[in-house]
Amino acid sequence: MTQTLIRARLLTFHREPQTPDDEGALTYIEDGALLVEDGMIRAMGEARDVAAPEAQIIDHRPHLLMPGFIDTHLHFPQTQVIASWAAELLDWLNDYTFPEETRYADPTLCAKMASAFLDRLTDHGTTTAVAYASVHAASAEALFAEGLKRDMRLITGKVMMDRNAPDALCDTPQSSYDDSKSLIARWHGKGRLGYAITPRFAITSTPAQMEAAQALAQEHPDCHIQTHLSENHAEIALSCQLYPDAKDYTDIYARYGLLRGNSLLGHCIHLSDREIGALAEAGSKPVFCPTSNLFLGSGLFNDAKLRGGGLTNAIATDIGGGTSYSLLQTLAEGYKVLQLQGQRLHPYRAFHWITRGNAVALGLTDRIGTLEPGTEADFVVLNAHATPAMAQRMERARGLADELFTLQVMGDDRAVVQTYVAGQQRKAA
Ligand code: GUN
Ligand code: ZN
Repeated sequence: MTQTLIRARLLTFHREPQTPDDEGALTYIEDGALLVEDGMIRAMGEARDVAAPEAQIIDHRPHLLMPGFIDTHLHFPQTQVIASWAAELLDWLNDYTFPEETRYADPTLCAKMASAFLDRLTDHGTTTAVAYASVHAASAEALFAEGLKRDMRLITGKVMMDRNAPDALCDTPQSSYDDSKSLIARWHGKGRLGYAITPRFAITSTPAQMEAAQALAQEHPDCHIQTHLSENHAEIALSCQLYPDAKDYTDIYARYGLLRGNSLLGHCIHLSDREIGALAEAGSKPVFCPTSNLFLGSGLFNDAKLRGGGLTNAIATDIGGGTSYSLLQTLAEGYKVLQLQGQRLHPYRAFHWITRGNAVALGLTDRIGTLEPGTEADFVVLNAHATPAMAQRMERARGLADELFTLQVMGDDRAVVQTYVAGQQRKAA
């Protein structure tokens, strides 16, 4: 197998930085080299210490190379819903999103859009995504097929929804079970793919469908589960009305066995202390979606409160409620959401979050989110001088933290020089 030696400044995290001067949480190498072979990282260190006489050399100096970004919540059939003008979540779903998702009944469209979707992700430095497909099995099928072709670590699942949506977008408890089951059999664990059991949210699933999701969850403990929780006040009220026996919104999912360590819960903005405690007990992972929460006016995610309650929070774009594919832009908006609540997100913690932090939330730290030898060769090369405005700012940068903060506040896909998935360059020239 051919080896590739990549020269760059290297940054990787070993644990979450606790303070701005917690440099023991990271490794930063000015004159670094990464040795890649067969889609895996074989060595990482000072260039003078990484010997590879046979390797092809790619020189990204003076740029900064770090693990590829991980997007833990976004919607494959919503790439053409971004920037839809709506009052709030439920209007946005009914007026734009549900009609758009009906188009994904067409497998030809799904195949074309799956390729475009994964191109958009890697253009923005994202190497792993946890995506909702549409209700149609064909949409998950197309995304898995495209992910396999690119050897990308990708988690997705067909949405389960059987009420409160257009007929064309409703399955049934039985068909949602059968379709999910056969997608799991075909794709889960194939290459770098994983299946997420995906009941959309309580409003669009009948109790009978929740039971189907529960059965799938019990039969497949190693599949992730993804759904939405506590995003918006009207959504919370309607969910509790539809499930009057539940103590609160969180309890709806608890009753159907959908809260466990590999459950990803989009939004989690308006949770009570009881709900935080229940999620912490289950080890479930809230997912902060700042650009979406601001765009839809849903509310401010209280990171410190959830962490204080014992939760591990993921962060994500939530395309197409979210407004950017860029996890840099997601951090920029996340920073502002936390500022409004007196919480300060340091750039070390921010970049840990979109790399190793999200890998922790997914239970995948042994494979992604790091440059450790023996892990998968997914990484991104960044240029903090990518635009004239960034270059001007960088003239006054005082070190790595300033460089990262410039990338976080001002960066987007223009700052992504190259994205490697399983050792292969994926950003269009
Ligand atoms: N709740 C249920 N479905 C969705 C969706 O597609 N986007 C967002 N932001 N919230 C949801
Ligand atoms: Zn979502």
